[in-house]
Amino acid sequence: MSNRLNRHRSLIAGLAAFFAVFAFSMSQFHGSASAADVTTGSVAITVSSGKAGKVSAVGPATVTKRIGKKGARVTGSVSSATYDATVGASVAGGIRFSNGKRRIAVTGIGLSFYKSRVVLSGKLGGKQLNVFKATGSPEVDTAKGVASLSGGKLTFTKAAAAKVRKALKLRKAPRGRIGGLGIQFNTTFVDQYHEQCGVAVDSRSVGSWPAESALPVLTGATATARPTSIDWGLRASFRGYIFGTMAAAGKSEKALQALDGAGRTNPPMSPTRGFSFPVSAGQYAANSPGSSSDDQAIINGTGTALFCNTEHFFWASITDPTIVIDGANSRIVATISQNINGNGMFGANGPWQTPQRVDLATLDLSAVTPTIGEGGTLTYTDIPVSMSASAAPFATYRAGTALDPITVTIGA
Ligand code: HEM
Repeated sequence: MSNRLNRHRSLIAGLAAFFAVFAFSMSQFHGSASAADVTTGSVAITVSSGKAGKVSAVGPATVTKRIGKKGARVTGSVSSATYDATVGASVAGGIRFSNGKRRIAVTGIGLSFYKSRVVLSGKLGGKQLNVFKATGSPEVDTAKGVASLSGGKLTFTKAAAAKVRKALKLRKAPRGRIGGLGIQFNTTFVDQYHEQCGVAVDSRSVGSWPAESALPVLTGATATARPTSIDWGLRASFRGYIFGTMAAAGKSEKALQALDGAGRTNPPMSPTRGFSFPVSAGQYAANSPGSSSDDQAIINGTGTALFCNTEHFFWASITDPTIVIDGANSRIVATISQNINGNGMFGANGPWQTPQRVDLATLDLSAVTPTIGEGGTLTYTDIPVSMSASAAPFATYRAGTALDPITVTIGA
């Protein structure tokens, strides 16, 4: 992304008119205030064998095709889907089987994709169980939020076949292939800052970053009374870029948003100033007396900094930063997330990377000696901060990119 960005930045002036047009079309696109994912699609369950009596639909599902005297295709819409370890969705309505006056229905149908099969569970005659299995070549894309199966071979599970036989008083349980299954649905993901920033999600990436490393365990630590806030804002040039772009579009108030109890740093002179994260708790261990080089501290900040650039179709967020003072392992740990859609202007659209706690930045204490102040406070001034290898390329910044230095005053 950085290379592409660098190459294209020179073209920017000429593209200004284009941005205006895109910004307009995007604002149309973002008319919805919905904070939830939207799934549309349908599932078509075809039971054509006649082995399970006469087939009909339980509304709002409908019979979309009759097959012979008994068989039918029943189609129900899919309105919610999940894309976790397995992809799943629920189907509206159900399917009914009857034999004379006897009848049994499957309702509350949930479907789950497993490699080459799909399992449909539901309430059959009032009991929750796996009802159908279908084999075929399902296609799922959890990043894009799409799932489909065409021409799946449908069978009842053993338990369901026995139940249908009993309820309908059939001579034989409906074993073997009974028909087919077709599935097609897709989900438009909505990111967690849709309301605050309004960038469309192109694809979703869960677990994009390596997990944060374990915090040090401090021995003989004392609780800190200071700092009362962590004052930091990632990188001044990033804030300036975002604020500038947004201000030019009359959206300056959306550019740098302090959320979840965070604030902006004082004094409130510069519109591009950083963020202030209130500290909820801190601990400090002096360790060897007379030496500050092995001092350790963990300072927990709270709140969110949201960097929102709808004009360039991205946002990045930093939540609950923790400062860790621990020699060569000194760092800023935080929950980060970003939607770097970009809208194709610099090549392929980027993903929405869902929130994760990571080692965000490295603190270089090698050249910083804390100074002792009133009441024994320790002040580390302008600690050099750089983008960590594990978070990079966060906000497109490569590992090692210099971020804003941070100053921390620790006091008991
Ligand atoms: C429509 C797409 C985009 C356009 C037109 C665009 C345009 C630009 C321009 C003109 C600059 C130079 C600003 C300056 O030096 O004053 C810039 C810088 C930058 N852009 Fe974008 N950008 C786009 C998408 C993105 C995306 C998706 C990200 C992801 C976070 C991003 C992150 C950055 C960063 C980090 C900088 C450098 C800021 C700094 O100086 O530290 N941009 N972009």
